[in-house]
Amino acid sequence: MELFDLDRPLIELVSSQERGAWNIRHALEGVQIFGGIGSGKTSGSGRMLALKYLAGGFGGLVLTVKPDEKQAWQDYCRLTGREQDLIILEPNGPHRFNFLQYESRQSQNVITENIVEVLKTVIRAGAEKDSGKSDDAFWETALDMLIFNVIDLCQLAYGRISVQQMYDIVQTIPKSNENLQTDESQGPVKAF
Ligand SMILES: Nc1ncnc2c1ncn2[C@@H]1O[C@H](COP(=O)(O)OP(=O)(O)OP(=O)(O)O)[C@@H](O)[C@H]1O
Ligand SMILES: [Mg+2]
Repeated sequence: MELFDLDRPLIELVSSQERGAWNIRHALEGVQIFGGIGSGKTSGSGRMLALKYLAGGFGGLVLTVKPDEKQAWQDYCRLTGREQDLIILEPNGPHRFNFLQYESRQSQNVITENIVEVLKTVIRAGAEKDSGKSDDAFWETALDMLIFNVIDLCQLAYGRISVQQMYDIVQTIPKSNENLQTDESQGPVKAF
């Protein structure tokens, strides 16, 4: 792994009184840019930091809903010779991020609650606002229970979790009394 010198300057800051530098250490500590709407935050300071970071060998994740932001980062990468490092995740694009697999690999013991939350966040993000869906707590709890139990079942059955396998399991839930019959040859069902 390439080691970074935290004191390496990325941007020289010079005024009539003093001379300073914005170095890698500052970049890692975080940046906040304030300014009114349309005052040049993105095209001024944002662009300059992006170009310096890319030229400095930084990696990163850019999340955006603005359509022109993709073009901007393509330009930044071209200007700094980082085009080969740019991976764009978008609908109909060639790349995919399997968030369920990523989350379930975070620890040896799959924490079902975390996966339920991730899945619910994704479902909520994809759901249309005002789609007429009831906010009734009853349905919310029923959904939680379903997702929770299916995740555990999926993990036990396949050792991994995928949306397709969860869907397949839900589709096999018995829908009539007939399907709930147990095989008599397995012995009587014990009631607890
Ligand atoms: N110094 C400048 N002189 C003239 N025009 C500028 C200057 N800086 C930015 N602009 C122009 O102002 C417009 C808005 O800039 P920009 O999108 O960077 O603002 P912003 O603060 O990021 O806006 P938002 O709040 O919408 O994110 C752009 O068209 C940009 O080209
Ligand atoms: Mg902006």
